[in-house]
Amino acid sequence: MTTTAEHYEHHLGPIYVWMAGGADAALQSGSAEIDALNLPVTQGDVILDLGAGFGMHAVPLARRGARVTAIDSSVELLRTLAELRGDLPIQAVNDDLLAFQNHITEAPSAILCMGDTITHLPEFGAVEILIERVSAELPPGGMFIISFRDYSEPLIGEQRFISVRSDENRILTCFLEYEPEAVLVHDIIHERAPGGWQTRVSHYRKLRLSPQHLITSLQSNGFNVRREAGVRGMVRLVAQNITQ
Ligand SMILES: C[S@@+](CC[C@H](N)C(=O)[O-])C[C@H]1O[C@@H](n2cnc3c(N)ncnc32)[C@H](O)[C@@H]1O
Repeated sequence: MTTTAEHYEHHLGPIYVWMAGGADAALQSGSAEIDALNLPVTQGDVILDLGAGFGMHAVPLARRGARVTAIDSSVELLRTLAELRGDLPIQAVNDDLLAFQNHITEAPSAILCMGDTITHLPEFGAVEILIERVSAELPPGGMFIISFRDYSEPLIGEQRFISVRSDENRILTCFLEYEPEAVLVHDIIHERAPGGWQTRVSHYRKLRLSPQHLITSLQSNGFNVRREAGVRGMVRLVAQNITQ
């Protein structure tokens, strides 16, 4: 079984920006999502982006005046983030997102875990630990934003084959294989090569988190939670720390 980190490093990382439609389009889409969130970003606010990838949300947040700590386990994606951030105040950190507390020097006003990153955690217990740690670090009023795919209801038959992106040189198709608590995500890449098409396949595991499970856990850790429709069919939870 490939680990998530290996899958990103060797398989998805090198084509991730292409998969997201190119850097400009992805940053525009991230910016629109930040606008839709209506996060009150004040100049100099500290915001953490957990599983930040190449900075789809970190870059727009920094453009709005936030100082962003972008944590990701993929060196490849953080390298792209470093290219895209220019002079923006974004600190790129290569670490496991569960270790985010090691990288806090000032209280954050918000913590983000966007784009289906939370389902990459290895088990439900890790999700609970993340929520407890975020609750401990956010001051009263602080925001925790999560967006993720709801895999709790299995797709069946041909629905499990998802065409992600294609152009004249590359085709990315995803195949979902369901286990009781997780879904195996097989990313099938066809690439045009001098002698014809080449195919590479790799898979990793994502958790089948139900929105209600997460909402209940957030509420029991002192959050007021709003559920919204996220981008590309994801669920977005906007949670505010209401402990005093
Ligand atoms: C689906 S991508 C989403 C990236 C970004 N948040 C976005 O919306 O474009 C998931 C990201 O989480 C990272 N990731 C997965 N598990 C992680 C972990 N345990 N710690 C840190 N990063 C992780 C991956 O390297 C990848 O960049």
